[in-house]
Amino acid sequence: MNFEELKEQKIEEIEAVIKAYLPRPDGYQREIMEAMAYSVTAGGKRLRPMLMQEVYRLFGGHGKEIEPFMAAIEMIHTYSLVHDDLPAMDNDEYRRGRKTTHVVYGEAMGILAGDALLNYAFETAIKAFDIAPDRSVQIGQALRVLAEKAGIYGMIGGQVVDVASCGKGLTQDMLDFIYELKTGALIESAMMIGAILAGAEEESVRTVEKIASDVGLAFQIQDDILDVTSTMEELGKPIHSDEKNEKTTYVSLKGLDTAKRDVEQISVEAVELLKNLGREGSYLEYLIRELIHRKK
Ligand code: IPE
Ligand code: IPE
Ligand code: MG
Ligand code: MG
Ligand code: MG
Repeated sequence: MNFEELKEQKIEEIEAVIKAYLPRPDGYQREIMEAMAYSVTAGGKRLRPMLMQEVYRLFGGHGKEIEPFMAAIEMIHTYSLVHDDLPAMDNDEYRRGRKTTHVVYGEAMGILAGDALLNYAFETAIKAFDIAPDRSVQIGQALRVLAEKAGIYGMIGGQVVDVASCGKGLTQDMLDFIYELKTGALIESAMMIGAILAGAEEESVRTVEKIASDVGLAFQIQDDILDVTSTMEELGKPIHSDEKNEKTTYVSLKGLDTAKRDVEQISVEAVELLKNLGREGSYLEYLIRELIHRKK
């Protein structure tokens, strides 16, 4: 099996895990469960759970307590997208090839679906304690990382500065701050949790955080590139969203060629750091390299 086929297979497995942890639509509030499933099952690259699982395996993890965390990180990521698309934020009508949640279910239900996904992510991750009671310390540490990287010192913090800076110029320093947090933090969370649950040492977890930070930065720069070079059909979300919202992006600040060069350079740096860990991570390396030229 080549890497591409392996990836397809891994995505299928990840989707089965995510689906198994979604709440069943039931009760007077069943619409919220449907709205949650609408966005989560729409597809997407499943990058964060995949990175989490690969790092877990890299450090010798082989249990099932990783699974609720894989579902949880995708729920948090999806909530961030549902809210990112709201009229008060980026005001976008397509996501993952479908009408956005607020367009289909209305704005109130879109807000609640995001809230629900965030909360349910923690209800889900906590189930790891039942799966592996003997790994409570690691699970507790993983929960802490999940919470912190999603919050005001993580993803939300980045989104706050991103939204507040619409229509205003940004320095490179502020742009780096936004990217590190709005996109980097959840990728850091994903990869660090994989390492923590597998029992990696503190120093290795820090290296993984740095690798993930590079992957996140390159990923967001590529997202900016695709916003000007791709098509809605390919991306499953509208292009020129950044221009519409008068955002300063890596591309508007540094130009397309420099942006492309930097995606490659930062990704190569991540791969070098990964190799320094001295573990067999050929699929992980493939995955990081593949992101350099991703088309969606
Ligand atoms: C989109 O993330 C938001 C960014 C952080 C750039 P993805 O590009 O991973 O979105 P999906 O999960 O594949 O839909
Ligand atoms: C969003 O960045 C990052 C999030 C935390 C959701 P963008 O606003 O550029 O993401 P897209 O392009 O809408 O996916
Ligand atoms: Mg945004
Ligand atoms: Mg957006
Ligand atoms: Mg974007």
